[in-house]
Amino acid sequence: MVAFLEGAAVVVIGSSGGIGAALAQGLEGAGAQVTCYSRGAIDPAFRLDLLDEESISRAAQSCPASPRLIVVATGVLHGPGMSPEKTYQALNPQTLMRAWQINAIGPALIAKHFLPLLPRQGRAMFAALSARVASIGDNRAGGWHSYRASKAGLNMLLRNLAIELARTRPEQIVLGLHPGTVETGLSAPFRRSVSPSQLFTAAQSAAYLLQVIQTATVAQSGCVLAWDGTIIPP
Ligand SMILES: NC(=O)c1ccc[n+]([C@@H]2O[C@H](COP(=O)([O-])OP(=O)(O)OC[C@H]3O[C@@H](n4cnc5c(N)ncnc54)[C@H](OP(=O)(O)O)[C@@H]3O)[C@@H](O)[C@H]2O)c1
Repeated sequence: MVAFLEGAAVVVIGSSGGIGAALAQGLEGAGAQVTCYSRGAIDPAFRLDLLDEESISRAAQSCPASPRLIVVATGVLHGPGMSPEKTYQALNPQTLMRAWQINAIGPALIAKHFLPLLPRQGRAMFAALSARVASIGDNRAGGWHSYRASKAGLNMLLRNLAIELARTRPEQIVLGLHPGTVETGLSAPFRRSVSPSQLFTAAQSAAYLLQVIQTATVAQSGCVLAWDGTIIPP
């Protein structure tokens, strides 16, 4: 599986996260040469904080080889002083700002510094973990304002990147990826109502996502694809 990645250099950003770690492991299993970046990386050359553009620029410079695939597996839904809003009355600028910084601005800055590393010839991909709840067309439940809005912003940025790259680098693909509902710290407080058949382990989700990465087409560049390869409406 992941034929185009066998022996290829790949980059996982957010490898300390549940899905990021599983993706890195799955890619190694598929024979890729994986370079992992995270906030807490022991080697400072592979340390990167989304809130610090300088650290992103330095990280890109330390990338050992031209990667065929860059996966951004970072994101935030809740944390100290931050939880998904049930009502507009819970909106506050700090939560909105934090969600945008981590979920949209961070990945955009990663694109700025890492996209030039992709090889100009042959299949290459920039993929960022998004979420089904970011679909504006599909939004029936409301709530989770900061998360939904910041991920919708990410999806627009990804579409823009795809349009721009298509002009000069027609073999490069930009994707948003929805991993399903996955047993990680991010989903832990919110998955009581999810049926066991719809809840994936991180390894399961990573295996599905690697299949999508393998099969996605240039025509799908700029789309958000779910774990089963279906397109999520914008
Ligand atoms: N789990 C789900 O059910 C689910 C569903 C839909 C979409 N997603 C998306 O999938 C992605 C991965 O989520 P996950 O479930 O694997 O969550 P997770 O286990 O909480 O991982 C989140 C990752 O983001 C990193 N991160 C957060 N802030 C950062 C910063 N300022 N700089 C650098 N890295 C930062 C974390 O790094 P640290 O380890 O340093 O904190 C960690 O590696 C997210 O974009 C999420 O929105 C997840």
